[in-house]
Amino acid sequence: MQDLMEKIVAWAKRRAFIYPASEIYGGMANSYSYGPYGVELKNNIKKLWWKKFVQEREDIVGLDGPILLNPKAWEASGHISGFNDAMTDCKECKKRFRADHLVEKATGQDLEGQLDAMTEILQKQGIPCPNCGKSNWTAARNFNMMFKTQMNGVDGDVYLRPETAGAIFLDFKNVLDSTRVKIPFGIAQIGKAFRNEIVAGNFIFRLREFEQMEIEYFIDPEADWEEIFYHNLEAQEEFAKELGLPECDLQRYEHPKDKLSHYSKKTVDIEYKFPFGFSELFGLAHRGDFDLSQHAKFSGKKLEYFDQKTNRHYIPHVIEPTFGLDRSVLAALSAAYVEENLEKGSRVVMKFPKKLAPIKIAIFPLLKNKEELVSKAKGIFELLKDDFMCEFDDSGNIGKRYRRQDEIGTPYCVTVDFDTLEDNSVTIRERDSMEQQRVEINSLLKFFKKNL
Ligand code: GAP
Repeated sequence: MQDLMEKIVAWAKRRAFIYPASEIYGGMANSYSYGPYGVELKNNIKKLWWKKFVQEREDIVGLDGPILLNPKAWEASGHISGFNDAMTDCKECKKRFRADHLVEKATGQDLEGQLDAMTEILQKQGIPCPNCGKSNWTAARNFNMMFKTQMNGVDGDVYLRPETAGAIFLDFKNVLDSTRVKIPFGIAQIGKAFRNEIVAGNFIFRLREFEQMEIEYFIDPEADWEEIFYHNLEAQEEFAKELGLPECDLQRYEHPKDKLSHYSKKTVDIEYKFPFGFSELFGLAHRGDFDLSQHAKFSGKKLEYFDQKTNRHYIPHVIEPTFGLDRSVLAALSAAYVEENLEKGSRVVMKFPKKLAPIKIAIFPLLKNKEELVSKAKGIFELLKDDFMCEFDDSGNIGKRYRRQDEIGTPYCVTVDFDTLEDNSVTIRERDSMEQQRVEINSLLKFFKKNL
């Protein structure tokens, strides 16, 4: 499986999906750029999510809040005092690690938050450094994961948001006052979040700058929250399947009761079998009225809801489905990557669900130096480009062009050949079956609207 990860990393760079960022300067601590096809894939995932959770839902509206919020918001949410991970340094090779991860890997114990216990195990049990193999650890200590910066006009530190959720709570009242939402309703947001992770890694799984797609779903504190919770969990699992992830590679992990925050009734992660093993893909948490109550307390503003049906004022409770976008990309890549042996040679084919494919249709003239074929193929590109992301390709032989499109997951290739000039038909070749059929140019738009 680790082999698969290495193949995906190399493929992603070669095929313009994901590049190591700042490479000409020697790189930049596990950061990545999405290349020309990668950005299409990522945008398609965002579109799919927005359609499913905003466009098709009467009870969810969108928001695009800022990355830099009033720093009081992070005091209220507890991020300034408590958004910490435990770190330890190897005194020999000077590498830094997550103390809780080292302890858990060596002993199976989850000692989150217990710094002294972690230090004792690290130092007394001689846990070896994963980098140099020696065992000489500093005491475990807390490290706040928020990135700090300064802003003209603001005294003190300003923070890059560590989750998109914050902005949603700050605009809860604006949405309530300016739209016709009624409880239960959700506010959805897609955007960047920043965490100064002690150890980033596993390609785009754990990044310091990443994107989240989050919903804060506001409910009546007296409602049957469990029904709403499981309804959301199922919707999250459905979305995972729409990314092409097989059901057998998904599992639920419920956080033990004693590890939950005091305000939470339940938290469940949806884990996916990444090439390095099952790990968190999405999360779902019952957050009670913690966030709205804290922001009300720190801002001095009432963040209540008046329920006309029951004539009650209350602070809504929140169910929060959260989705990592970069992890969705990595999961979709891992599930789609297939190596196939063919009668003649082999191929790498990305079997993305059609909705995710960066390019939907590739259009080829059989020969690049035959003007009639080239202009006919360009005409087809013009015909289809309004409705579909298309690519025109006239380099190399047709076999090579098919392989190139298979490798980026293009569902259909259209070839203009000499027969086209006679019968106004083209050859359409399908990615997975590699089957070919002749279709009239006049019917192309209809064919693709039906099949894509
Ligand atoms: N508002 C709740 C929240 O932020 P979280 O579990 O800390 O919850 C939500 O993060 C999702 O964001 C995770 O399920 C994961 O998909 C993604 N995520 C978290 N940290 C990440 C990181 N360092 N790199 C990439 N994705 C990350």
